[in-house]
Amino acid sequence: ILNTLLALVFAYLLGALPAAAWIARSRGIDIRTVGSGNAGATNVQRTLGWGPGLAVALFDVFKGAAAVWLARWLGLLPEWAAMCGALSILGHNYSPFLGFRGGKGVATSFGTIVAIDPLVGLCVVILGVFTVAITRYVSAGSMIGGAVAVTTAFALGRPWWEVILLLLLCVLAVWQHRENIKRLQEGTERHIGKKGGAAS
Ligand code: G3P
Repeated sequence: ILNTLLALVFAYLLGALPAAAWIARSRGIDIRTVGSGNAGATNVQRTLGWGPGLAVALFDVFKGAAAVWLARWLGLLPEWAAMCGALSILGHNYSPFLGFRGGKGVATSFGTIVAIDPLVGLCVVILGVFTVAITRYVSAGSMIGGAVAVTTAFALGRPWWEVILLLLLCVLAVWQHRENIKRLQEGTERHIGKKGGAAS
């Protein structure tokens, strides 16, 4: 029980490390005031370019995967290891380092999914990247990726807890993208790579 508690707290704090905000701040930029205003890799790419954007994406993916791996290494059951991944996503989205705000949890969710179920992760990345490639909207790819995760886990007959967890993560991701959904409907969503101006 102590191991479980420790792993859960550590996962939350690991997820809470706001790489996007810190990298932007090191360049004298407050990430919440530029582009989409989101503390995530997409907005760092938009504002600072591909290098920093990719670095943030990799770190954020790693946070989700590492939370699951560490839990497994501590001997936790797969369900609890997956919960640690979910907590790292909550840490990312509601970070104490950013006044309990944060990013949208896409990269960290992806890291968690890859660590829980690599085959589902592969399907997510293929269809998610494909969606971004045809729409040029990262937000669209992110939400499709969430739906793909739930559908493939269900289709592959994965345990009920995995399907439910992925469903909850998908709902959370869509909720985090509510501003993006509004912009997609209005036709004002930013395409990948486009500079964004002031936050909206
Ligand atoms: O990972 C977040 C992405 O789906 C959208 O980011 O900055 O365009 O709101 P952004």
